[in-house]
Amino acid sequence: MASRARITRTGRVLEDTFFKKAKAQGYVARSAYKLLEIQQKHKLIPPGGQVLDLGCHPGAWLQVACESLGPLKKGGRVIGVDLQETKRPDKFCDERVTIVQADARELGAEFWLEHAPGGFDAVLSDMCHFTLGNSVADAYKSLELARTAWTIATGGEEAESLDPNMPWGRGVLKPGGSLVMKLLQGTGTQEFAAELRRDFTKVAWHRPKATRSESKEVFLLGLKRKQ
Ligand SMILES: C[S@@+](CC[C@H](N)C(=O)[O-])C[C@H]1O[C@@H](n2cnc3c(N)ncnc32)[C@H](O)[C@@H]1O
Repeated sequence: MASRARITRTGRVLEDTFFKKAKAQGYVARSAYKLLEIQQKHKLIPPGGQVLDLGCHPGAWLQVACESLGPLKKGGRVIGVDLQETKRPDKFCDERVTIVQADARELGAEFWLEHAPGGFDAVLSDMCHFTLGNSVADAYKSLELARTAWTIATGGEEAESLDPNMPWGRGVLKPGGSLVMKLLQGTGTQEFAAELRRDFTKVAWHRPKATRSESKEVFLLGLKRKQ
C-alpha cells in the first residue's frame, strides 16, 4: 500500500520532498538544502575555512559547513552554538566540528578567546524562536536574533563607537568574510538590510527552494565584509 504524506491540522505537509531527500542522503534535517543552495550560489565557506553556526540544532548546517571545508587534511573548523543540547551528526561531520550549548546573546570575551582567536570566514545564523502565530511579533523576534548575529559578526550598530583595538569589539568576522541571517519578513527587515550596507560590499536576499511555501522565512546575506 502506498504511504500517505503526514499533514498537520493547518495543512502543512511534514514529510515533503526535501524531508525524504534529507533522510535518504543522511542529513539530520531538511534545512541542509537551504545552506547547500546558499553555498552553491555564493561560496561563503572557503575550503579549510573557519565557520560559526549560530542556532545549530539538530545539526544539518553543521553537516553542510563541514562538508564545504573539504577533506580533513585541508583543515578548518566549525563552531556550532545552540540553546539546546546538540549531538554532532556522524555523517558529513568530523573532528573539525565543535558544539557549544549556550545562548548566542550571552557569548562573551572568554568564549571568543577560546573559539575565535583568528576570527571566522563565515558567520551563519539560522536561529529562530518558536513562532507565536502573530506575524508582527514573530518578525520582530527574528529581527532581534538576526541583529544578535550581526553584532557578533561585526559589532553591529555599536561598532562605530567602539575601540577597534578592543578584542572582538568590531566582531569576529574576518574582512572579506560573509554573514547569513534567517529572518521572517516583516516591519524593519528592509531597514536592517540598509544598515548592513555599512559593513558589507554586497547585501542580498535569498529564499531557498527548501523554504516552505507558506513560510515568511528569508535569508539576508552580508557578503564580503569591508576592511
Ligand atoms: C531552525 S533551528 C536551526 C536548524 C539548524 N540550522 C539545522 O540545520 O540543523 C533554530 C535553532 O535556533 C536556536 N536558537 C534560538 N535562539 C537562540 C539563541 N539565543 N542562542 C542559541 N540558539 C538559539 C533554537 O534552539 C533552534 O535549535
